[in-house]
Amino acid sequence: MKASPPNLPRLFPALLRILMLQAGTGLAAAASPRLDLNAAHRGTPEIDMELLKLASPPAEVQSFFAAAREAFAEHPRASFADLPAIREAAERHGMAILGGPLLGCLSQDGVRVWVRTARPAQVTVLVPAAGGERVFGPVASTAESDFTAVVPVTGLRPAARYSYRVLVDGQPVPLPEGAAFATAPEPGAAARFSIAFGADFHKTGLWNGALLERIRTRDNAALLLLGDSAVDDRDARVGLHRSDYQLRDLSPGWQALAARLPVYATWDDHDYFNNDKSGVPPRASDADRAAVRKVWTQCWNNPAYGFADREEGIFFRTRVGPCDLIMLDTRFFRTAPREPDSFLGAGQMRWLVDELAACRGPFVILTSGTMWSDVISRGKDSWGVWDPPARERIFSLIEERRIGGVILLSGDRHGARVVRIPRRSGFVFHEFELGSLGAHPGPAAMGAEPANQPLGLTGEALFGELAFDTTLPDPTVTVRVVAPDGTLRYELTLTRSQMTPPKG
Ligand SMILES: [Fe+2]
Repeated sequence: MKASPPNLPRLFPALLRILMLQAGTGLAAAASPRLDLNAAHRGTPEIDMELLKLASPPAEVQSFFAAAREAFAEHPRASFADLPAIREAAERHGMAILGGPLLGCLSQDGVRVWVRTARPAQVTVLVPAAGGERVFGPVASTAESDFTAVVPVTGLRPAARYSYRVLVDGQPVPLPEGAAFATAPEPGAAARFSIAFGADFHKTGLWNGALLERIRTRDNAALLLLGDSAVDDRDARVGLHRSDYQLRDLSPGWQALAARLPVYATWDDHDYFNNDKSGVPPRASDADRAAVRKVWTQCWNNPAYGFADREEGIFFRTRVGPCDLIMLDTRFFRTAPREPDSFLGAGQMRWLVDELAACRGPFVILTSGTMWSDVISRGKDSWGVWDPPARERIFSLIEERRIGGVILLSGDRHGARVVRIPRRSGFVFHEFELGSLGAHPGPAAMGAEPANQPLGLTGEALFGELAFDTTLPDPTVTVRVVAPDGTLRYELTLTRSQMTPPKG
């Protein structure tokens, strides 16, 4: 039997603390001037190794990643299953799992647990129960799933905390210290429930230990990532998409977070193909787009991925505590600006209309990879340039049907911004754009309508938080913008009645 895989957080707490201190107000990567946004976009083997070394990992982890990165460099369209060199390196260094556990799909009675193994294996999750442990799985990780397995954990009590263990082929794998999850409250229950969100890690932000630690320790029940997260500018080289996910999965801060906080993710341009790319980009094919989508479905742990039967898109609607959560795919279906339904595609638009009508509330989180409003960069690469009529149809539908509690989230424009979107009816939508997870440079903090922009910050790592309180007769959401040291940069409480469009 091989030795256990290294547990970075346990082995290197002191180094991790140093990294976190370095990252206090911004980005750990800032300590190394090479590791900026441009470096993330280039993503050479040397740059990726430098990122890995930010966490001072054990020699065997460095050696493993060097081998994996080299294998993907030589075969930039390969899968993990295609490359025995990666499996052999993992076995040489005693790594039973290459990624995870990554929690997802939080419900009132469980979660799903994603793991990537080094070779085909049986993955089991154990949860303590009276008199022993409940067993979930095994689920097979196969060459077809690119050595990933998602184990559904179900039948637990609502709003309860559970530790868990993961077995690969019957052998326990070391987990980050305190790996545990809390089930959601029952959908109708009066509860306090908080969700973190943001966008634009751009690889480098995944090494900001202080930021990840703060997201994890502020009582958030889940994390929403709105794009440009782990993969950067890999175009159709799907092997390099996989390499970037391997790098993500070796970040101690990410490991600690993903093992405790269910994550929901959508892509934006850089983790789709490249800067401002969408649809089937130039020099790419339908098959390339399908291959990029397939990697996505194997490297995240979302409740669903677009039109599963047609293997198109990655949008989904789900329920998270007191919220309906709709995460749109604002890349896959784009055609040409100003064509009908050019932004979401006709199929996703029809789907969205039906799903909005089915939302039960009291709150609805509606996400777009790029900004809903046009005040920053004049709507560059977003709704205002591509498809204002579709945006208008969505907003009008929410007003006409008086769908209350809708919260618009977005990313892409680096910075942290709050934008009020006033409507002719007198109703005001609120957009929260937290494209600040990577603290990368971007457009000016304040846009074209400062009177409707109560917040504009750039140049620091910040995340968002939606704290719901449905114990009140008029439920509230408190939106916070939080720094890695825990200080609040912004706070706004809205009642559901304030967020309900008036009678027409
Ligand atoms: Fe970005």
